[in-house]
Amino acid sequence: EKDGHDWFMRKEIFEQPRAVADSLIGRRTTAGLLALDEMRLADEEIRDLDKIIIIACGTSFYAGMVAKYAIEHWTRTPVEVELASEFRYRDPIVDQTTLVVAISQSGETADTLQAIRHAKSQRARVLAICNTNGSSIPRESDAVIYTHAGPEIGVASTKGFLTQLVACYLLALYVAQVKGTRYGDEIDEIMVQLEAMPDHIATVLEQAESVYELARAHVGTRSVLFLGRHAGYPVALEGALKLKELAYLHAEGFAAGELKHGPIALIEDGLPVLCVVPPRGRDQLHGKMISGIQEVRARGALTICLAEEGDRKIEPYADHLIRLPQVPVLLQPLVAIVPLQLFACELATALGHDVDQPRNLAKSVTVE
Ligand code: M6R
Repeated sequence: EKDGHDWFMRKEIFEQPRAVADSLIGRRTTAGLLALDEMRLADEEIRDLDKIIIIACGTSFYAGMVAKYAIEHWTRTPVEVELASEFRYRDPIVDQTTLVVAISQSGETADTLQAIRHAKSQRARVLAICNTNGSSIPRESDAVIYTHAGPEIGVASTKGFLTQLVACYLLALYVAQVKGTRYGDEIDEIMVQLEAMPDHIATVLEQAESVYELARAHVGTRSVLFLGRHAGYPVALEGALKLKELAYLHAEGFAAGELKHGPIALIEDGLPVLCVVPPRGRDQLHGKMISGIQEVRARGALTICLAEEGDRKIEPYADHLIRLPQVPVLLQPLVAIVPLQLFACELATALGHDVDQPRNLAKSVTVE
């Protein structure tokens, strides 16, 4: 049942090319338009949207952070991302021109369910992104985009996360199409890039052995930092969460630009820092990330850099280099998170922990 893997989590990591491909199937009509069957929002409602609020917890929240970058860039609609557990306690400004997007793999997370109930009481429209057919969150929502990850058994979300990202990109493109903020051929081009992602993810998985080796070399490590910028920032947060959950290590993700505002004080000799380097296409982003990496390395950090194929500028500053396929910055989370999942899974295994059932955690958090 684990397909020869030691853990469900590892099996699920390797299923990601398939899960991403399945989540993309059937989204394009013959006319080339994006079709989302389970989307029960009228075009008029989408055109009238003033803002989108994404609510979620944990890994799903990080998918929501990536979604903000994509939705705002492609649709020019303002997006807020909020932890579901905080949402209703701050008296949020929500009305019928607000679309609340609830992201939940299980569809049963109590914090998220309570948040959508609050949003509905304020007359917001609610769309669920969910992996579990017929679960509570999609049942109580006006519209749903189902992800097609298949059952996720490992408590730590992996393929659930990647397919949530796919659903978020599809939602962003759909809104762009209806609002007319992007032309059909641009949407088409992004769809083609998305459809290439399963192969790119498979390419990253081919490097598993070298990531495992790196992970095993960190058995004595007590703390690991993760740095990212732009869409790589949520990847850093998610990489850190995986390590906390599975290896019970102190792990923190930071936006690289925040380093000098405090976190750089944490850097000491030998501290591993995993860096998600943006593609070179976004010159400013790339250059700024490199200077952040230089800063931590100059203070003794051991830098493990995830950078695209062909990026030579990073080489002098990387103690270890993990190569990523060349993809647009907004889609990079789909490939960049994979080595971080492998790293956490392998380090936890080497430490003798139960990867599928980490201590103190439940797969579905059905109490607030
Ligand atoms: O089922 P959900 O997506 O609503 O779950 C949200 C979080 O509880 C979940 O992502 C949690 O953070 C995972 N254990 C992360 O690996």
